[in-house]
Amino acid sequence: MKGVVLAGGKGTRLFPLTKVTNKHLLPIGREPMIFNPVKRLVEAGITDILIITSTEHMGEIVNLLGSGSEFQCNFTYKVQESPSGIAHALALAENFAGGDRIFVILGDNITTQNLSKFVKDFSNQEKGAKVLLKKVDEPERYGVAAIDEHHIVKIDEKPDKPDSDYAVIGYYMYDDQVFDIIRDIGLSPRGEYEITQVNNEYIKRNQLTFDILDGEWTDAGTFESYLFANKMMMNFKDD
Ligand code: G1P
Repeated sequence: MKGVVLAGGKGTRLFPLTKVTNKHLLPIGREPMIFNPVKRLVEAGITDILIITSTEHMGEIVNLLGSGSEFQCNFTYKVQESPSGIAHALALAENFAGGDRIFVILGDNITTQNLSKFVKDFSNQEKGAKVLLKKVDEPERYGVAAIDEHHIVKIDEKPDKPDSDYAVIGYYMYDDQVFDIIRDIGLSPRGEYEITQVNNEYIKRNQLTFDILDGEWTDAGTFESYLFANKMMMNFKDD
């Protein structure tokens, strides 16, 4: 399996912190934000990693991360020229994936949990996709899963009236159908190609599994969550 870290976007919810830099370069605890998704991938045994970011900040990202030798992995870099959503960015990973399965992490999702068991489970899954859920206080801010006993029935992106407290968080595992699916989806009401539409297509195909992330997790895209992420990571030490 290969890894993809999505680190584009304008980071408008953190303005003016993001006026001259990329959100994923901001400090979280003692390290730049993007170190967390990279370290979680490597810890799960995924060492071929594609970093996707905007043209403006690609130079700084490459200066920071380098070849990958510091992290015991290999980085490939790709530019997303316009911020048109997560699925739009992910489309750029097709050649890199080369038919392999991919583990996609949103660069502002921060966790202390080792993700190896989820990767192992997905490797044993015949086909399709796997998402991770987390119980959250403000589900309206996320993609929200409606769940029956064993399945996700649908996912709503930032619903006014959430069906559950379970957010579909920024850790997505896909087989190679994902790129055909992305080609077929349209723009959402907020003008983006949403990852939620991709996941809903896997639900339609009866090929989406899920697991619950039971460890500490947060996104870091708003001031409140950014502060929370800093407190969470301040005393965390990777092995
Ligand atoms: C994105 C996804 C959303 C997901 C969230 C996790 O939201 O669209 O489904 O729950 O990441 O961090 P965004 O941060 O772009 O608002």
